[in-house]
Amino acid sequence: MALMGKRILLIVSGGIAAFKALELVRLLRKDGCAVSCVLTAGGAHFVTPLSLQALSEERVYTDLFSLTDESEMGHIQLSRSADLVVVAPASADLLAKMAAGIADDLASTLLLATDKPVLAAPAMNVRMWLHAATQANMATLAARGVHVVGPDEGAMACNEYGPGRLAEPPAILDAIKSLIGTASSASASASAPQLLAGRHALVTSGPTHEPIDPVRYIANRSSGRQGHAIAGALAALGARVTLVSGPVSIADPPGVSVRPVETAADMLSACEAALPADIAVFAAAVADWRVAKPAALKMKKTATGKPPALSLTENPDILASIAAAGPRRPKLVVGFAAETHELAAHAEEKRRRKNADWIVANDVSPATGIMGGADNEVHLITADGIEHWPRLSKQEVAARLAQRIAAAFA
Ligand code: C5P
Repeated sequence: MALMGKRILLIVSGGIAAFKALELVRLLRKDGCAVSCVLTAGGAHFVTPLSLQALSEERVYTDLFSLTDESEMGHIQLSRSADLVVVAPASADLLAKMAAGIADDLASTLLLATDKPVLAAPAMNVRMWLHAATQANMATLAARGVHVVGPDEGAMACNEYGPGRLAEPPAILDAIKSLIGTASSASASASAPQLLAGRHALVTSGPTHEPIDPVRYIANRSSGRQGHAIAGALAALGARVTLVSGPVSIADPPGVSVRPVETAADMLSACEAALPADIAVFAAAVADWRVAKPAALKMKKTATGKPPALSLTENPDILASIAAAGPRRPKLVVGFAAETHELAAHAEEKRRRKNADWIVANDVSPATGIMGGADNEVHLITADGIEHWPRLSKQEVAARLAQRIAAAFA
């Protein structure tokens, strides 16, 4: 219940993905969060005020010039009464209005009037997302401090494929928790005991992308949610945190310096550049192999129909490199082990082989739904033995691990 007592102002704009806003409201309410909904005229073509009202258990706002709304609560007050303004889905049109400072309806007026942080979850056709105008608007909004989650890549309602799908509601919920949740928020960090003040923590997160040619790459399904949550939880305890992240579509945790990277080689260089560190947590799902010689030009199909043979070479092991004995080895090195069988034995073997102090091991067989999901069930393997933790949200696993790390430094 990291959002207990918090309030979200949720702006739902037009697009087929608007139906997912209903699930987001349900998840927020389940977490103890109050939700005021604002529906744009476009959004009202896809979901009804009544559905949002039923799920949020509050009246839904649609009209800037409604006298009733003004007498009950003016739009300025509405824009400032929440802890966070969330725009989900954020249409290309609304993002353009936000970037240009246009205020011609209730949603855009609230976004211009608010003094609260804003999280946007874009959703649109892939061409609209990739259009230079939208990309320029996103750069403007990012420079102004607007947080962004997604969009995801995949099949779209318009039968095209690519980036533009609204992030899934659990991922939007995670982004909200990392911005204002009590487990890892900047506001919590002010009140949480600063047990790791003066310590530098290095965290890796997300997948790596290994190029095949200029447009194709080898990747994996890691979302970065666990690594990002750990970075946020360490920052909430006062640590200075450097987060080296592969390509992810989730928001940066508050209070953390993020170094975005693509490949395993880049990730290793960024980690080495971030040293010295007291604590290093390697939660990234680094690709084991990369293409030995990525093609300089896009590879083409040939008349023979014979597919190309990709020659792979092993990537450097970042955890093992940083954990190797030496003057720059962080005092506490924590690795992850995702296993599908004989978890404890494999994780302990990994701990020794990679010279890690601790291994956080989890079962990623498809049946567990852990890979890319919101929850995690982990075991902490140390030189003293194995601890079984219950199934927890990734935020809770992160908070608990941060507390264990703080205890180790006490
Ligand atoms: O060997 P395996 O990939 O299972 O090891 C997992 C652990 O090692 C994770 O902590 C992961 O971040 C780290 N790792 C790494 N560099 C690699 C491969 C894994 O840092 N090339």
